[in-house]
Amino acid sequence: MRVIHHPILNENRQNKKITFYLDGEAIEAMEGDTIASALLANGRKVCRYTRKNNEPRGIFCSIGRCNDCLVTVNGIPNVCSCVTPVKDGMNIKIQKGNGEWEALT
Ligand code: FES
Repeated sequence: MRVIHHPILNENRQNKKITFYLDGEAIEAMEGDTIASALLANGRKVCRYTRKNNEPRGIFCSIGRCNDCLVTVNGIPNVCSCVTPVKDGMNIKIQKGNGEWEALT
């Protein structure tokens, strides 16, 4: 879901399309999106699952304060998706619990 026509902000400039990978699945985003906004634009509301009860968490504060939106990016866990720009070719994983560091290649 994206706002294309806005009555006050006028037309949304269409930025360049990029592709990132979510748990191995190729997903399109627009240049300038944050990871969280790209996920939401593609109907993905869950960023991580909690450590104790394995409950889903998604965007809550959207300003980098609550840590509900943590994901694993290119093997690095605990990346705050609401304040991190998505990049072409990024490898993102929905984080389980505390996340795990992956071997960097
Ligand atoms: S939504 Fe709160 S830190 Fe990202």
